[in-house]
Amino acid sequence: MQPKPKRSRAVALPRSEFRARATEYIDFLGAWLKKPRQTASVVPSSRYLARLMVRQIDPQDGRVLELGGGTGVFTRAILATGLPPERLEVVEINPSFARGLRRHFPHVSVLETPAQIVSTATAGEPGEYQTVVSGLPLLAMDRHMHVDILTEAFRMLRPGGSFVQFTYSMRPPVSRDILDWLDLDVVRVGQTVRNFPPATVFRFVRRGE
Ligand SMILES: C[S@@+](CC[C@H](N)C(=O)[O-])C[C@H]1O[C@@H](n2cnc3c(N)ncnc32)[C@H](O)[C@@H]1O
Repeated sequence: MQPKPKRSRAVALPRSEFRARATEYIDFLGAWLKKPRQTASVVPSSRYLARLMVRQIDPQDGRVLELGGGTGVFTRAILATGLPPERLEVVEINPSFARGLRRHFPHVSVLETPAQIVSTATAGEPGEYQTVVSGLPLLAMDRHMHVDILTEAFRMLRPGGSFVQFTYSMRPPVSRDILDWLDLDVVRVGQTVRNFPPATVFRFVRRGE
């Protein structure tokens, strides 16, 4: 008699990880229900998007600033590059997300300061950061906010540093005239459909650097 063909099984997550993910999703949905424009998504980003966001971080290099940490999907990916936690600061204005980030990443500094004035709160000096990883909902923000956030981010970045941002559109979330005014260039890093919704990642740099 022929042996029974083996059935392929979906790989189950360990129970503790499943519970942690479920809590993350519930927290995110709760934050979105309270402040839809500030949270701007009903679910956290996927780990596939997180990998694209951190692709160019050099763990041996300078400090990294993360804006809009949420439940910590990008924080986890930044630390997975090998960057020492003391070199990472995460900015998050939702107090409940900030509490969760401190609990999950006790060696990372979490700043409950709006991203547009972050230089008032960072441990590092302006010009000391290699990368700013932004999970901020730029599409839900107005042009003045775009200018304030980019100005502040590039104040913290050293020459040649990058501001990395994802968006749910195929086009950069900042208008061409703002980029010209701030003297910035933008390049597409990549796209993923393994995120809800599918997302594109852009890298902003100062022109000529
Ligand atoms: C789209 S969620 C992204 C969260 C997480 N990075 C992710 O990808 O799953 C945007 C996050 O930015 C935070 N946020 C919005 N405006 C902010 C601001 N001005 N300064 C700091 N954080 C802000 C929100 O509270 C929220 O956690």
